[in-house]
Amino acid sequence: MYNPFSLQGKTVLVTGASSGIGQQIAISVTKMGAKVVITARNKERLLATYEQLVAEGHQWVLADLAKEEEIKNLVNAVPKLDGVVHSAGIIQPFPIKFLKKKNFEPIQSINYNAILLLTAALLSNKKINRQASFVFLSSIASQYPYKGAATYASTKAAIEAFAKVLAVEHSSKGIRSNCLSPGMVKTAMYEQTEQAVGAKKMSAYIEQYPLGVGTPEDIANATIFLLSDASKWINGITIRLDGGLLAGMH
Ligand SMILES: NC(=O)c1ccc[n+]([C@@H]2O[C@H](COP(=O)([O-])OP(=O)(O)OC[C@H]3O[C@@H](n4cnc5c(N)ncnc54)[C@H](OP(=O)(O)O)[C@@H]3O)[C@@H](O)[C@H]2O)c1
Repeated sequence: MYNPFSLQGKTVLVTGASSGIGQQIAISVTKMGAKVVITARNKERLLATYEQLVAEGHQWVLADLAKEEEIKNLVNAVPKLDGVVHSAGIIQPFPIKFLKKKNFEPIQSINYNAILLLTAALLSNKKINRQASFVFLSSIASQYPYKGAATYASTKAAIEAFAKVLAVEHSSKGIRSNCLSPGMVKTAMYEQTEQAVGAKKMSAYIEQYPLGVGTPEDIANATIFLLSDASKWINGITIRLDGGLLAGMH
């Protein structure tokens, strides 16, 4: 049957696969025929994802992506890849006047440094096949920020720029690089944001979403598209997934 969205024959690395969006992406891409290598730090939760993968031949690797040595170990462990999805990320709200290096180094190391170091190591170790597709998780906060998002929004904006440079540098090999920019999605990060801003403020914010908040499946479906040959002419862009939230804002 004709299916341009099939991932049959592709091998995909998914970071942040122990929770939320990364977990769902790992499961969904195996439903579309891909083999996956899943990674995160928490063994129990990563194995819970592994158990939900469809078919055989997948791999799991524990790695703290804030540590360069563990990025190197991960790169050594992976086979040649047709796709890389970088979903690992954290959120840590800080008002700008309280920012200190020790506050923003942890978020910078996972949301920004890890992406650059992992991508560089995969490319230099020849682990990326021709026609491969990179997908990075940004956030609507990069373009439409909120109070306290200085570190989070700026790391996401930096990744959108990085993804474009990757697209420019590697398109001669058919390698593509794009970002997904979700609004609020129901995951552990959602609960964390709710705790930080309070339930009342959160529900007022959520009411503004014309189609409600997103689900991990919504993000996984867009990822399938970007990993598949159906998107082979799409390179160096960011796709916004927000259920129409920003369309109505002026
Ligand atoms: N949820 C939302 O509303 C939303 C909206 C826009 C964008 N995003 C973006 O989407 C991505 C996924 O978010 P989510 O909601 O799925 O978050 P989540 O449920 O909190 O999952 C975060 C993932 O990142 C991994 N991780 C964190 N620090 C790590 C480290 N040092 N090394 C390796 N892995 C690490 C965690 O695994 P371990 O703890 O096992 O290491 C976990 O698998 C993030 O980049 C986030 O910024 C989320």
